[in-house]
Amino acid sequence: MKKNQIAIDGPAGAGKSTIAKMIAAQLGWIYVDTGAMYRAMALYFDRKGTDVNDEAAIDRDVDGAAVELAVVDGTQVVRLNGEDVSTVIREQRIGELASWTSRYGSVRSKLTELQRVLAEQQPVIMDGRDIGTTVLPDAGLKIYLTASTAVRAKRRYDELVEKGVRDADLSAIEKEIAARDEQDMNREISPLRKADDAVEVDTSDMTIDEVVARVIALYQER
Ligand code: DC
Repeated sequence: MKKNQIAIDGPAGAGKSTIAKMIAAQLGWIYVDTGAMYRAMALYFDRKGTDVNDEAAIDRDVDGAAVELAVVDGTQVVRLNGEDVSTVIREQRIGELASWTSRYGSVRSKLTELQRVLAEQQPVIMDGRDIGTTVLPDAGLKIYLTASTAVRAKRRYDELVEKGVRDADLSAIEKEIAARDEQDMNREISPLRKADDAVEVDTSDMTIDEVVARVIALYQER
């Protein structure tokens, strides 16, 4: 068991990255956002014009993308072939494409390897879909973070409203989240599922601070 690794998995919008960032800050560890890496790969295929329905095309193009995580002035940035793509990968279209292209074995094995290298170099808290099941199977603490679809949709909606988006549509967001869950949970390779030894934390009725306190307490108990 590796005490210096915490794995956080769960569906889109459960609050993984918010929680993981806060815990990393408290413990003085590095936070690794693996979803950002899948997004950067998807952006690469999108820009290159790769036919994302054609696995042979994916396999051919995958090695043209160098994905890197770095910390600049205390903030994590994602680089694609040297370019900081941290903002553009947050577009919803890229998130959806990432969910699609993450089904391919060549994409998964490339990023899994990068993620394991990062975890060997320093204590990490890593979030994603397959961290506890595949990437860091020996992590000292595994959390499966969930929340109801309705709560996750409402959080996303509130975020958009906060950003000034005027035509945010709650029921459309809820449908998108359900579709993303379906895709991430039903792909063949490393689908999203709770690892047998993960602790499930349902955040539907919890505040962010309560979730952070719970995870830290679980870590200290180990
Ligand atoms: O967490 P996110 O929304 O940024 O992730 C985008 C997509 O990337 C997600 O829908 C599925 C994929 N992903 C994955 O397959 N495995 C991971 N460890 C992280 C993300």
